[in-house]
Amino acid sequence: MNDARPRWRARRARITGVLAASVALAAAGAAVLPALAASAGPTLAQVATARGFHVGTAAEVNSLASSQWRYVADSQFNSVTMGNEGKWDATEPAQGQFDFAAADAIADYTAATGKRLRGHTLVWHNQLPAWVSAERTAAEQRQVLIDHVTGVAGHFAGDVAQWDVVNEPFNEDGTLRSSVWYTRLGEDYIADALTAARAADPAAKLFVNDYNVEGVNAKSTGLYDLVRRLQARGVPIDGVGLQAHLIVGQVPSSLRQNIERFTALGLSVEITELDVRIPLPADAAELTQQAADYRAVVGACAAVAGCTGVTTWGVGEVDSWIPEFFPGYGAALLFDEQWQARPAYSAVVEALGGTATVPAPPPVPSRATVAAYPFETGLDGWGSRGGETTAHVTTVAHAGTGSVLSSGRTATWQGPTRPVLDLLTPGKLYTVTGWARTASGSGTARLSMQRQNGTATRYENISATTAIGTTWTRLSGDYLFLPGATALSLYLETTDTTGDLYLDDVTIETEGPPVSQSPSASVSASVSASASASVSPSASRSPSVSPSPSGGSGTACAVRYTTDDWGSGFVGTVTVTNTGPSAVNGWTLRWTFAGDQRVSQAWGATLTQSGAAVSAANATWNGTVAAGASVTLGFLAGYTGTNARPAAFTLNGTTCALT
Ligand code: XIL
Repeated sequence: MNDARPRWRARRARITGVLAASVALAAAGAAVLPALAASAGPTLAQVATARGFHVGTAAEVNSLASSQWRYVADSQFNSVTMGNEGKWDATEPAQGQFDFAAADAIADYTAATGKRLRGHTLVWHNQLPAWVSAERTAAEQRQVLIDHVTGVAGHFAGDVAQWDVVNEPFNEDGTLRSSVWYTRLGEDYIADALTAARAADPAAKLFVNDYNVEGVNAKSTGLYDLVRRLQARGVPIDGVGLQAHLIVGQVPSSLRQNIERFTALGLSVEITELDVRIPLPADAAELTQQAADYRAVVGACAAVAGCTGVTTWGVGEVDSWIPEFFPGYGAALLFDEQWQARPAYSAVVEALGGTATVPAPPPVPSRATVAAYPFETGLDGWGSRGGETTAHVTTVAHAGTGSVLSSGRTATWQGPTRPVLDLLTPGKLYTVTGWARTASGSGTARLSMQRQNGTATRYENISATTAIGTTWTRLSGDYLFLPGATALSLYLETTDTTGDLYLDDVTIETEGPPVSQSPSASVSASVSASASASVSPSASRSPSVSPSPSGGSGTACAVRYTTDDWGSGFVGTVTVTNTGPSAVNGWTLRWTFAGDQRVSQAWGATLTQSGAAVSAANATWNGTVAAGASVTLGFLAGYTGTNARPAAFTLNGTTCALT
């Protein structure tokens, strides 16, 4: 299924519109920037956009539903790369059956927020479903590759600015890695993938991406030679991606020279997955060195005309892959556990010629309990997955006196289960926690979700696979509920044993309204960290505050309201242009929904809804809107019936023209 629906075309038009607005803001130049500096200070994204540069982050669907991740990513980055959602296991889990639910969510987010989208990745040796490597002829294998590239790149045609078409094709010595692709198809698989990607999406820039190719070395020379061979044959290739998963203090000294040898071939270069990991715990000296490392990498790229952007592999500690994949290392990204900027943040802003303002951390959301299953009086709606026995027992309990016993299991997928579809709201992120133990012996267990979409069934892991024994072990993980499910069941399973299992104290929680600004202690902690990184004295250290509303009677405005609709929910995008003669300092946009639309998430504004009435107040970083400039906010909402448009919008009390 190559589902190039019209809505993707519509999205492309909107991206252009939103980008045009931010370019207009940048073009207003000197008149705008001092006003911003006086109020909140330009963000990293604003500094980058003003010089035509891209600063990006990898994004995963779970992150999109976190208000804290969104608060930082919305304001600080102008580019987003698909974190896992564009990979083969996510997009074509079974041959010919494409699934774009997760990748679409990332693309919708970039469209709604006016960010550039990087596609990652079409052909790789990791995160491949088993069927891809099943025995088949070379001709069939080549067709598998071409069908995949055509299906995925075709689906996103027009929306993806750059595709990592081939990922990590090299060994450390510069020879090609013996992946299923190289061993079955030889070097030609790279040309085949690039050619198919060009045909499917002529507008996307096509990249080959790898790690340990940042400096001039055998591996990057292998990449260089490959590019020359491809170019000699007329194979389409537009850029190389240098991943840059670095260790603190180890930026290759030949980075800039290496970038320049690729741009000399007429290619674009991007730093695609930057992180600088530190052995934990990270001390102030290491964070200072890390800031210097980030400064060196971003500075080297920004100094070369063909080096067009730097993407970090996540925003903060919470969405970094480092602690899991490099045990003992962490603190690798620009923001910390509390979403507070590390010294490296200021270094990156300065490397792009900006003056750094340490951004205020996002409000801390409260936790709201959606469901709790204590198993004190019975099964709380839980039952068997199929064949095994599920019983309420009072002989064993994690807390209180009752739990659930699953016995007579003959398959690892059997265990206690409960339908949860009616409890969850599409687009929301949930944290699911439960306690598990064995009756005897040990094994590994996890909480999972069985998701039905019509006749298609998908099994989604929630917690990591965790060792369990005869003492209680906590299993916990995040679950983003995407729209479109027709049935949904939470269950406990094991991966290696069919012994008897106990489950107790299951909770499903989600984000509630913000409870507080992050404690001031964390703000001052980051200030001293910034000081140790020798941020220039002009850097404002105070957290930004929203300007107080002004501009009531002289206000004039125009509003563009667009939706990306899937029948029961939609992403709404509202672009407000200040058409009055002077800047608006602080704004509230109000409208009334025409139906039963309910907002579940918003970005670019703090949105409150009472009945059908919605009020959207500026975020800390976009309160000032110069004359002629625009701001964009977006939201995710559910509805029933028809998704009728609001009839009118007011900005600080003044009715806006509709465009
Ligand atoms: C990583 C993701 O961040 C993890 O969540 C996933 O489990 C494994 O892959 N090089 C790449 C990225 O090109 O796709 C990898 O991302 C990190 C290394």
